[in-house]
Amino acid sequence: MKRPYSYIAGTGHAVPARVVTNDDIAAMGLETNDAWIIERTGIRQRHIAAPGESLTSLCAEASRQAMAKAGVQPGEIDTIICGTASPDHLLPSQAVEVQTALGCSRAAAFDVASACSGWLYGAIVGDSMIASGAADTVLVIGAEKLSAIVDWTDRNTCILFADGAGATVLRRAKGEKKDRGILSTFMRSDGALAELLWRPAGGGAEPYSADAATGKRHFIHMAGREVFKHAVRSMAEATDRALDTARITAADVDLLIPHQANIRIIEATAKHAGISMEKVFVNVDRFGNTSAASIPIALNDAMEQGRVKEGSTVLFAAFGAGFTWGSLVVRF
Ligand SMILES: CC(C)(COP(=O)(O)OP(=O)(O)OC[C@H]1O[C@@H](n2cnc3c(N)ncnc32)[C@H](O)[C@@H]1OP(=O)(O)O)[C@@H](O)C(=O)NCCC(=O)NCCS
Repeated sequence: MKRPYSYIAGTGHAVPARVVTNDDIAAMGLETNDAWIIERTGIRQRHIAAPGESLTSLCAEASRQAMAKAGVQPGEIDTIICGTASPDHLLPSQAVEVQTALGCSRAAAFDVASACSGWLYGAIVGDSMIASGAADTVLVIGAEKLSAIVDWTDRNTCILFADGAGATVLRRAKGEKKDRGILSTFMRSDGALAELLWRPAGGGAEPYSADAATGKRHFIHMAGREVFKHAVRSMAEATDRALDTARITAADVDLLIPHQANIRIIEATAKHAGISMEKVFVNVDRFGNTSAASIPIALNDAMEQGRVKEGSTVLFAAFGAGFTWGSLVVRF
């Protein structure tokens, strides 16, 4: 069978109502300011969960929107894949909690742990399951409550990361949709660099403890400058490989939707790919870095703004902790 195997039938996103501006972060007593954060990251504000607000509720809201747009009932979902690094519980998966919230009783549900590449990896797994015949309809979610695992006294990280959920419904490409869908996929990882962006404690190797809390080793730790360099290099490879495999050029791309980590990484990615910034979707200014949620939130935002239409060719590129990186070309 030739590509496309699956297409994106519906999208949705949900973020907490609470908005935290750069000035709000500075007011917490951190030595930072609005001008520095905007210049170095492009971020102006982010959405942060209120106490007690669960990731499951954000996932369910985003998924309901995506399923409604796709015209899919809960009982039609064969598989739920949730990309996340900040689930409500470490056991069982975030995906089974969403399954219960949605009433998708026929589905198999599991998480994908590839950090900011989580939705993109999940979409590739979902597409592959559809290609193999293991599923016809797959709900792919990217969702994070990073505010729960960020050290709010660390100005290197807390200015970047935020909360939210994005969801997409993948369906088998057939009939009049046969020329629409995922045209190419690319995914890579390099575990040798894991400690540049990680949570040292909280897992089996170094369980969470009172000491760990003092040392804050269960929070996200990041070597920002190193991560930046690898992100630029890997996103460049990701866009190259997606275009090559889809046998298209940058001129054929109507919109680039990159992972929303930092405006400077986004600009470097666009420049490398030869895509002008008018054809790049940016919402990092409003949402910050929502990790696995960033691409599906951006996709739904772009669709609501009319920037993705029927026939649009969209290039997606992601990079995250692991390191993990990857890309997709999708015709809508
Ligand atoms: C974190 C990041 C914004 C820092 O920006 P940068 O330009 O690399 O800044 P540097 O770390 O070189 O620090 C420059 C100076 O700003 C200071 N600084 C760091 N964070 C600051 C903040 N929030 N506010 C004000 N000053 C800050 C540093 O202490 C340093 O001061 P010094 O020159 O006196 O030592 C940037 O490295 C980055 O975005 N990295 C990638 C992170 C990322 O995207 N991670 C997720 C990947 S999916």
